Amino acid sequence: MLKALSCIAAIASLACAAGGRSVSQPPPILTLGYRHASIPAAISAIRAIGQNTSLFTPTFSEDESLFTSQQLEPFKAIVFLSNSEEVLTQDGQEAFKEWLTKGGSLVGLHAGTACLFNDTAFGTAMGSWFDYHPDISNATFLKVMDHETIDMLPDRYTTYEEVHHFRSDPRDVNCTVLLTYDPDSFSDPMRGTRPYYQGSPPPSAWYREGQTVDLTNGTAGLSPATMTGRTWFTSLGHEIETWSNPTHLAHVEAGLRWALAEFNADSTSSTSSSSSPSSSTYSTSGASSSSAPSAPSTSPSGSSAGSNGAVATMGSLAGSGGTAALALLLAALLAI
Ligand SMILES: *[C@@H]1O[C@H](CO)[C@@H](O)[C@H](O)[C@H]1NC(C)=O
Ligand SMILES: *[C@@H]1O[C@H](CO)[C@@H](O)[C@H](O)[C@H]1NC(C)=O
Ligand SMILES: *[C@@H]1O[C@H](CO)[C@@H](O)[C@H](O)[C@H]1NC(C)=O
Ligand SMILES: *[C@@H]1O[C@H](CO)[C@@H](O)[C@H](O)[C@H]1NC(C)=O
Ligand SMILES: *[C@@H]1O[C@H](CO)[C@@H](O)[C@H](O)[C@H]1NC(C)=O
Repeated sequence: MLKALSCIAAIASLACAAGGRSVSQPPPILTLGYRHASIPAAISAIRAIGQNTSLFTPTFSEDESLFTSQQLEPFKAIVFLSNSEEVLTQDGQEAFKEWLTKGGSLVGLHAGTACLFNDTAFGTAMGSWFDYHPDISNATFLKVMDHETIDMLPDRYTTYEEVHHFRSDPRDVNCTVLLTYDPDSFSDPMRGTRPYYQGSPPPSAWYREGQTVDLTNGTAGLSPATMTGRTWFTSLGHEIETWSNPTHLAHVEAGLRWALAEFNADSTSSTSSSSSPSSSTYSTSGASSSSAPSAPSTSPSGSSAGSNGAVATMGSLAGSGGTAALALLLAALLAI
C-alpha cells in the first residue's frame, strides 16, 4: 500500500514533530487521488484567519499517522480539506470516530467529503460523501436560509466554482442545508444519470449543531458511538484564487468560528437555532433513505469513550478565559 507520509513543508516542523518524524528530507507525496492545487492557498488563508481572529491555533498535516486517540486528543476541531480517497487506515478511522464521540467538531472544505467512502461514521459525521462535479464554470449558489456562516454571501452568489453532487442527502443525518444552486446557471451533462439522491434542493453547504447523531446509522444516537460536536461543510473553494476572495474568506472564517463556538467561553450554543427553520422544511422524507449509500459498518463494536463528561472536559479546556486559541487540525490527507 502506498503511503503519503509527507507533511506540507511549511508546517512540517509542527506537524511532524508531533509524530516524532524527521523533517529534513520529506518523502514525496504519493497520492492515488486528485490533489487540489488550492490546498496550499487554503492552508495559508486558514492560518491567517487563525492569526487574525485568535480563534484557533491550526496544525496542518497530511500525515495519516497523526490519527491516533492520543494525538487527536488536544484538537477541538478537525478540518478535512479537499481530501481524496482512502486517507485513513482502519485504526485511524477508529481513532477519528472515538475523537468524535468525545465532542470534537468537524469541518469539511471543498472536496472534504471526497474520501473514506466506505466509512459510515465519516459520512454520517460529515453529512454525506462527494459523488461528482461537472466541469468548473461560473455557477450561481443560492441561500436556503439565514445563517451567520452565509450572511456575507449575496442571495445569488455567482462564482467560478465546481458544483459538487453528493451520494446522499445530508438532511437524512439531521444536517440543515445552507446553500443550494441554480441548476440553470451552469452546464451539467451528467445531471440525472447518477444512482444517488441528494435531496431537494440539492445541497452545496450545510451544518449540524450540537445534537447527538449515531455514527453507525445517523439516527438520534444513544449508543457509545454518538457525535455531539458540530459539523459545518462548504463545497466552495476549488480555485487557488478563491482563497484570496474576501467573500469566500469571510464565509470560511464564519464557518470555523461557528464550528468552534461551543468551545468558546463567551458564546452560548444558541448562535443560530432561533433563526433556523426546522430541517424538515426541506426534508424529502421517504424518497431518500432507500437510495442512501450503504457503506458497510466499519466497527460494529465502536468505542466506549463517549460521554457527556468527556464533552464537558473538552469545552472547559477551551473555556478558561475565552481568549485561549483552540487547537484545530487541518488535515489535507490524501490517499494512503
Ligand atoms: C488578516 O488580516 C490582514 C490585516 O488586516 C488582512 O490583510 C488579511 O486579508 C486577513 N486575512 C484573512 C484570511 O482574514
Ligand atoms: C469499499 O467498498 C467497496 C464495495 O464493498 C469495495 O469494492 C472497495 O474495495 C472498498 N474500498 C476500500 C478502500 O476498502
Ligand atoms: C466567469 O465570470 C466572470 C465575471 O463575469 C468572467 O470574467 C469570466 O470570463 C467567466 N468565466 C467563464 C469561464 O465563463
Ligand atoms: C435532529 O435534531 C433535533 C434537534 O435539532 C433532535 O430533536 C432530533 O432528535 C435529531 N434527530 C436525529 C435523527 O438525530
Ligand atoms: C442505529 O444504531 C443504534 C446502535 O448504534 C441502534 O440502537 C438503533 O436501533 C439504530 N437505528 C436504526 C434506525 O437502525
